[in-house]
Amino acid sequence: MSKSPLEEIHDDHRHMAVLLELLSSDMAALREDLEGAVDLERVRQIMDYFSGYPDRIHHPREETMLEVFLERHALSEAMEDTWKRVRAQHATLHQLTRGVLEMLDAATHDVAVPREHLVECLQDFIVRQREHLDMEEREILPYLEKTMDDGDWREVNTRMPNSVDPMFGEQIETEYRELYRLLKNRKT
Ligand SMILES: [Fe+2]
Ligand SMILES: [Fe+2]
Repeated sequence: MSKSPLEEIHDDHRHMAVLLELLSSDMAALREDLEGAVDLERVRQIMDYFSGYPDRIHHPREETMLEVFLERHALSEAMEDTWKRVRAQHATLHQLTRGVLEMLDAATHDVAVPREHLVECLQDFIVRQREHLDMEEREILPYLEKTMDDGDWREVNTRMPNSVDPMFGEQIETEYRELYRLLKNRKT
């Protein structure tokens, strides 16, 4: 049986949390100036992943769930505020992801990038991404699960953008194979 939209969103969040952990340890090493210990190409790949599936598929999927919800249910004031924050955070995360990725693209192509600035931007990305995941797991997803009925979810299913995760889906795309192997070894 295929997974429900909510199960898929939870799975995506788990995958992102694992990547953020790896990113965080790389950032800590970069901060201590342990350049040799950090594979910048790998950091670039992680950010490349975030700019792809999470940014282009995962966030629009969440926004589709919110759209369907808003069309079919009344919204409390508190939740309206939370919705607005989710949308604003998606836009901010998109900008931050692009910015860090551009810096890493330059750094991995031997263009001088101030190390402190890169560390600062990575830190900002990690903190905001974690806050965002926590808020969705704590406030949004339980609320949707409690409130939406089968008809709502059928509607979500027909509208959700369909795409396969290039790293955690059934087929791992070549560019992410090494990173995926590394994550698997870290977990066990
Ligand atoms: Fe989100
Ligand atoms: Fe999310």
